[in-house]
Amino acid sequence: MNYLIANWKQNKTLSEFKEWVDAFFTSDLIIPENLVFIISPNYLLLPEFHNYLKELDREDIFLASQDVSQYEDGKHTGLVSAKQVSEFASFSIIGHSEKRSDGDSLEVVNKKIRLAIKNGLTPIVCFSDISQYKNISDNFDVKDLVFAYEPISAIGTGKPEDPKLVEEVINKTKLSRVLYGGSVDVDNIDNYLKMGTVTGFLVGTASLDPLKLKALVNKFH
Ligand code: PGA
Repeated sequence: MNYLIANWKQNKTLSEFKEWVDAFFTSDLIIPENLVFIISPNYLLLPEFHNYLKELDREDIFLASQDVSQYEDGKHTGLVSAKQVSEFASFSIIGHSEKRSDGDSLEVVNKKIRLAIKNGLTPIVCFSDISQYKNISDNFDVKDLVFAYEPISAIGTGKPEDPKLVEEVINKTKLSRVLYGGSVDVDNIDNYLKMGTVTGFLVGTASLDPLKLKALVNKFH
């Protein structure tokens, strides 16, 4: 199975979401059977997106939150729990480098993964170096997780990592399924796809444009 995950980050208002879905969900949109296609909007848009997909009866598109709280529930102003997310999404991105640089320690990332799993969410765990990966693989059954290698220098910079270097890191994990993220676009995705080591992508910037994301989906046909 291949994975394609659209990470919208802190982008899109409700009206921008409506414009995006109108342009994306057209009759030519066919999600290949071998592709797990996931969209990760901000928390506010999750219920909206969930209801929209239900109306369209699209069971071939999954949703992910961009994070979950490290706490189960209770007095934590501003946070959203894994349990709350699980009413609308089936995956959660955890340990993204933007969250780690905002203060998510290894311990916090571990807590979030544990709560996501407990609440039936599949964690999409990002790591930007092999030591971060090892910390997770020492503490969890890797079969329960989806991993994405995202070198910091490639994220949001328009400078994708050399596919050979990506392959080297993925080989160190000894996993059969690792995604790559970092400035993936229609022009460079083939460089990774043809290697066979990368089994999917986490796409930020390019996923904001419905036509570009559709072109990326079509790469899997
Ligand atoms: P990018 O973001 O595609 O804009 O580099 C990727 C990510 O951070 O997941």
